[in-house]
Amino acid sequence: MYVQPVGTLKWELDTPALILDLDVIEGNIARMEEFLRGKAARIRPHMKTHKTPALAYKQLEAGAIGVTCAKLGEAEVMANAGIRDILIANQIIGPIKIERLMSLTTRTDLMVAVDDPQNVRDLNEAAGRWGVRPRVLVEVDNGTHRCGVQRGEPAIQLAAYVAEASNLRLAGVMGYEGFAVFIPDAEERAAAARGAMEILTGAADDCRRAGLPIEIVSGGGTGTYATSGAYPGVTEIQAGSYITMDGRYKSIGMPFECGLTVLTTMISRPRPEVLITDLGMKQLSHEFGMPKVLDVPGATLTRLSEEHGLVELDDPSAVKLQAGDKLEILPSHGDTTINLHDYFFAVRNERLEIVWPVTARGKSR
Ligand SMILES: Cc1ncc(COP(=O)(O)O)c(C=O)c1O
Repeated sequence: MYVQPVGTLKWELDTPALILDLDVIEGNIARMEEFLRGKAARIRPHMKTHKTPALAYKQLEAGAIGVTCAKLGEAEVMANAGIRDILIANQIIGPIKIERLMSLTTRTDLMVAVDDPQNVRDLNEAAGRWGVRPRVLVEVDNGTHRCGVQRGEPAIQLAAYVAEASNLRLAGVMGYEGFAVFIPDAEERAAAARGAMEILTGAADDCRRAGLPIEIVSGGGTGTYATSGAYPGVTEIQAGSYITMDGRYKSIGMPFECGLTVLTTMISRPRPEVLITDLGMKQLSHEFGMPKVLDVPGATLTRLSEEHGLVELDDPSAVKLQAGDKLEILPSHGDTTINLHDYFFAVRNERLEIVWPVTARGKSR
C-alpha cells in the first residue's frame, strides 16, 4: 500500500479513506470509564466494531477487563496480538470450529456462550482431549429472541449441565438486549433495558439458588450502557460502537462523539446540482439509512452504487466544489462500514498520526 507520511493533512489523504479522530475516540473511551467509575460493572468492549488490536489496547489501558468478540476469527486476531481475556459472545458449533476454539484456549483465558446441551457435550469432550478448561457463559434470551435459553428451568438446567462438565468452567450468564438499543425514546429504551436486565440477573439468581456458581453477568450495548451498566447484579457490559459512534447511534442522542468518517474525492460534477464521489456501497454501508455528508450545507447523499455515490445539492450556486475536492461522510452504521476497509487513517488535529490495519476485517469464520 502507498502510505502517506505522518503529519499529512487529512484533506490531502488519498481516498476513499476510513478516518478515525483520535482525540474523539479517546474521549469516548474516557467517558465510558468515567461512567463506570464506582459502579460494580466493568466494560468488556465488543471488537466487532473496530476489529483492530491497537484500539482494543487503548480500551484495555483505560480500564476494560478484556474484550468481547462475535467470531472465533476475531478472537484469534486479538489473541495473536497478545490479548488474553476474551469472550466469544456466540455459540461455537461444529468440530472444525471447536478444535480451533480449544487451540485458542491453550494460550488465552477464553469464554464462550452456550445455549444447547449437545454443544456443551461437544465442548467438554474436545476440552478433555486438549487438556484445557474454557470458561462458559449460559446465554439467556432476555428479549432479543435470537440465541439463548429461557429464564427459569431451561437456564438452570443448562447451567447445571455446564457445571457438571468436568472440562468446562461455568463462569456465568450473558444476554444481549439488542431489541432495546435503538429505541429512540430514552425513557422507553431505559425501561426496555431494565426489563432485559431483570430477566438476566434473575436467571443468575435462580442459578445461584440452585447452588451453581455464577460470577459473570454480561450484557449491554451502546444504546443501553447507562441502564445495563448501572443495573444491580450486572458485572460486565459489552458495548462496542461507543468508541467510534455512528450516525444511527448519534440520532438517538447517545452522549459519545462521532470519531469515524469516510473521506471521499469528488470525481465529477456532471450537473451543477450533482456531485459524484469516489466511494459507493463497497466502502460505505447503508442498511441503517443513507450516511450524511458533513459540512456542506444542503448536500445529501441520495444514491450509492458499487463505486460511486451521488450527492444532490439544494442550492448549487452556494457550493463551489469541483472534481478533485474532498468531502467527509459520517457512516450511518460504523461496524459494517469499518468491515469494508483495510486501514484506519488515524488523525489528530486533522493530521495523520498513524495507520492501523483493520486486522480482523472479514474474519467472519
Ligand atoms: C452480543 C452482543 N453484545 C453487545 C453488542 C453491542 O454492540 P453495540 O454497542 O455496538 O451496540 C452486540 C451488538 O450487536 C452484540 O451482538
